[in-house]
Amino acid sequence: TTSSTASAISRITVIGGGQMGSGIAQVAATYKHSVTLVDVSQEALDRGKGYITKSLKRVAKKKFEGEQAQTAFVDEVLGRISLSTKPDAAVSKADLVVEAVVENIKVKQDLFARLAAHAPATAVLASNTSSLPITKIAEPLGADVKQRFIGLHFFNPVPQMKLVEVVRTEAADKQTVDSAVEFVRAIGKAPALCQDTPGFIVNRLLLPYMMEAIRLLERGVASPRDIDTAMKLGAGYPMGPFELCDYVGLDTIKFIVDGWYREGEGLQGNPLFRPSAKLDELVANGHLGVKTGKGFYEY
Ligand code: NAI
Repeated sequence: TTSSTASAISRITVIGGGQMGSGIAQVAATYKHSVTLVDVSQEALDRGKGYITKSLKRVAKKKFEGEQAQTAFVDEVLGRISLSTKPDAAVSKADLVVEAVVENIKVKQDLFARLAAHAPATAVLASNTSSLPITKIAEPLGADVKQRFIGLHFFNPVPQMKLVEVVRTEAADKQTVDSAVEFVRAIGKAPALCQDTPGFIVNRLLLPYMMEAIRLLERGVASPRDIDTAMKLGAGYPMGPFELCDYVGLDTIKFIVDGWYREGEGLQGNPLFRPSAKLDELVANGHLGVKTGKGFYEY
């Protein structure tokens, strides 16, 4: 049609079946979409399917009484997810492709060049990157593809977190933005529309907050426990900044903040993101947070 309104998205291909990709596949399938999940090996796909099954069982327990109804729900949702190690074939009928592979610009650029050649000429292409510019990922692509390219930034854990940042580049057309927003609503999430700038909305505000909390600690103002208690009970945050740092991973925080300080568009040398000796020391010693059993706290 010649309509400029959003076209409905029903077939999704998710590339990368790790923490984020499996969550995105799960949620899309829960809301009746037909999903193909792609990863590099059958082993990775089985792991992804394992995460999804475990998470769906938890959802089913809350949603349904009786084992039979719970099993039926899990099987029904899993039945809408196919697994593939062949990205070219997996995108050939997709309305939307969501990429959630490793956070590496070259890997993402090469992947999208390949996907664009095999996906329908009308498909929306999206990246779930947290820290790379969407515009830069799309840079090697032709103008006809750039207008269908967008950021869809989900939050971890995907099944629980309601927000998706919809990141529009200068090149994205209105129909692409509308389709993306409509898709986000159709999978039970809330879209927040945002321009392609470092950290989008949430991380641009959260990282300075986390870094300032670490600097309070460095100056000896208060302990992590007292700072966390203060922000939870005084500002109504569900987690304190140190609990959040440990949950996200201190290596991830350092990676993002150092990148912005060095070369973030409009952020270079911004003192909000200058290195912290405390953070550097924890990361150097392999204390990365919950995932290693120790960060600001012990687990
Ligand atoms: P992960 O390491 O859990 O999963 C990545 C998956 O991609 C792995 O299963 C890997 O085998 C697969 N993969 C790598 N290269 C591939 C390729 N060429 N083709 C197909 N599959 C490939 O990583 P995670 O945490 O799921 O992150 C993925 C993306 O999501 C990254 O861009 C990250 O910045 C972004 N993100 C991560 C969040 C988080 O809290 N972990 C939050 C929001 C976004």
